[in-house]
Amino acid sequence: MLRPRRSAPPWSGSRTSIDGQPVIQFEQVTKRFGSFVAVHEASFAIGEGEFFSLLGPSGCGKTTTLRMVAGFERPSSGRILLDGRDVSRVPPYKRNVNTVFQQYALFPHLSVFDNVAFGLRSAKVAAAEIRRRVGEMLDLVHLPEVAARRPNQLSGGQQQRIALARALVNRPRALLLDEPLGALDLKLRESMQAELKRIQRELGSTFVYVTHDQAEALTMSDRIAVMHAGRTEQIDTPPAIYHRPASPFVAAFIGNANLLEGRVAGRDQQRVTVDVAGAGRFAVVDERDGLPAGTAVQFMVRPEAMVVTRQEPHGVGGSVAVTVTEVAFTGPVLRCTGRTAQGAELSAEIGPHGLSVAPHVGEQVWLSWAEGAAGIVPHDGRTAVPARPSPSEPVPSSGTPGERI
Ligand SMILES: Nc1ncnc2c1ncn2[C@@H]1O[C@H](COP(=O)(O)OP(=O)(O)O)[C@@H](O)[C@H]1O
Ligand SMILES: [Mg+2]
Repeated sequence: MLRPRRSAPPWSGSRTSIDGQPVIQFEQVTKRFGSFVAVHEASFAIGEGEFFSLLGPSGCGKTTTLRMVAGFERPSSGRILLDGRDVSRVPPYKRNVNTVFQQYALFPHLSVFDNVAFGLRSAKVAAAEIRRRVGEMLDLVHLPEVAARRPNQLSGGQQQRIALARALVNRPRALLLDEPLGALDLKLRESMQAELKRIQRELGSTFVYVTHDQAEALTMSDRIAVMHAGRTEQIDTPPAIYHRPASPFVAAFIGNANLLEGRVAGRDQQRVTVDVAGAGRFAVVDERDGLPAGTAVQFMVRPEAMVVTRQEPHGVGGSVAVTVTEVAFTGPVLRCTGRTAQGAELSAEIGPHGLSVAPHVGEQVWLSWAEGAAGIVPHDGRTAVPARPSPSEPVPSSGTPGERI
């Protein structure tokens, strides 16, 4: 039997909280290479059984962060704890974590079985136990039939599954994955995402997953840390990151968003009115404190939240009249871009239930949205208090140190 997941019931989807002691904890961790700061004061905690992603563009410090967990790099300052123990002076081979890289790094001269068995043989595990555990791992990755083959007789996706089996066979406390699907084409990558998620769920293990692909991170993660130039800009669940980005960088990096400069005009409890450059005054719901009248913010509406009509809509959260500047066929939706008379540019997606006759360039249409669909993004995400989840979403446990920045 594989180890059952300890805390989450099998039907639970995303985990949002940390139960008990974190498996991995960063305390004010900074990593410098000379005078260059690759990771700036990272503070977060990863819980048992969590699928935690480090997401950001190339060069933002993801690999460096992961390498510090593995012990291949040492923090310049701050502490990293594994299971509550400071591992600053613990070498990589004594840390109970394993890493899977984009390059499969299997031994070409060994069979699949011997590749997976490698770590157990080094640890002097008895032969019968090795057979049992390797068999269990090959079953887990759905490749029991390839045990006798050499790596070069496997496809890329199969090799990556074997690399995964090899990294999991000695039951690490956390599996660290650095862009493990980066070498695979899109279709295979998507099926491997589902596979990885299934394996993580079945084992109940802690996965720390590095990717620059925001769709991949949204699909797979319980929580995501969005990194930008060495800084952690936001740590939250995928829906919270998508719907309530804490900074302009996060808003622009995750999905498509209409982002317009604005200024808070007033606030009535959680109802904030915003003057949006070139578009008008709109109300949004915002749970953040600390954004008084006059605060410069970005106003955000996702293109898929927009409705396109030929008549002025009524009873909506907000609307603007635009002249259509571009209509693009993308497959599932038509993307319609327009400009207001004052020069603000906005995009909307028209799905199969939208306008029956596509708008044409030069036509005037109305773009509208429900009040809850628009939001504001503070310019300095690190000083604003992060939004709390709405009541319909699971509430993260409070009091986990360093969970948010
Ligand atoms: N050993 C090193 N020496 C000097 N600079 C490094 C070293 N490792 C990484 N860097 C720099 O640190 C930054 C972050 O790198 P990395 O963590 O690999 O980013 P990512 O994985 O997000 O692409 C990059 O600018 C990179 O050039
Ligand atoms: Mg990297």
